[in-house]
Amino acid sequence: MKKLIIGNWKLNPQTLKAAVTLARATDKRGVILCPPHLFLEEISHTLKKALPCAQDISLDEKSFTGGVSVNQLKTLRVKHTLIGHSSRRTQGETDEEINQKMKIALKEKITPILCVGESISTHRKGTVAVKQFVTHQIKKALNKIPSDRKFIIAYEPIWAIGTKRPDTPEESGALIAHIKELTKKMGKKNIKVLYGGSVNGKNAGSFLRQKNIDGLLVGMASLNAKEFNKIIKTNG
Ligand code: PGA
Repeated sequence: MKKLIIGNWKLNPQTLKAAVTLARATDKRGVILCPPHLFLEEISHTLKKALPCAQDISLDEKSFTGGVSVNQLKTLRVKHTLIGHSSRRTQGETDEEINQKMKIALKEKITPILCVGESISTHRKGTVAVKQFVTHQIKKALNKIPSDRKFIIAYEPIWAIGTKRPDTPEESGALIAHIKELTKKMGKKNIKVLYGGSVNGKNAGSFLRQKNIDGLLVGMASLNAKEFNKIIKTNG
């Protein structure tokens, strides 16, 4: 079965024209694209096969300067949002805020893609510490969320994001197996868990071949249509 490939464009590209060109060139089934909010409306109209996704949602529905609400997203055919990406967590987003955002998205039938992952200092402490850290993040994020709600998890070790130093497929595969065990124990069935962090056209296959890895969250390499298409092709 085909796995899920998500492109996280962050603050790129610089112009709407370039964003539309990139979206057209990578518009494939099984792909989810996360453009900046600024371009989301146009990209959601542009895409025919891939699905548009927000990079974040606001906690506040009506009065948060610079925010985007789930209700606004719903008017744009947007059915997914990233929540708790490490670039937000490292700027102070808390587990409690992430849990609230999960609840807001789920209430409005937008599927959250919950990002979790450890820093380099936790990574250096070894596998047990990493498992404990990620378990804590997931338990906090899923606090009081009914077990029948659908969401996706992306395991993205912070030290592997944008560093050209990906985790090994075996280690991330083992950690993802742990995440699946954990969510199963919490009563959540069939949760898709993806890997993210320095994925490119060359290494994508080695992650996709891991049985526990259900797909990839790709940053940098999703900005280059040729490279991203190579990843999509690897997925079959
Ligand atoms: P990267 O980013 O692929 O550039 O490491 C991944 C992400 O931030 O989601």
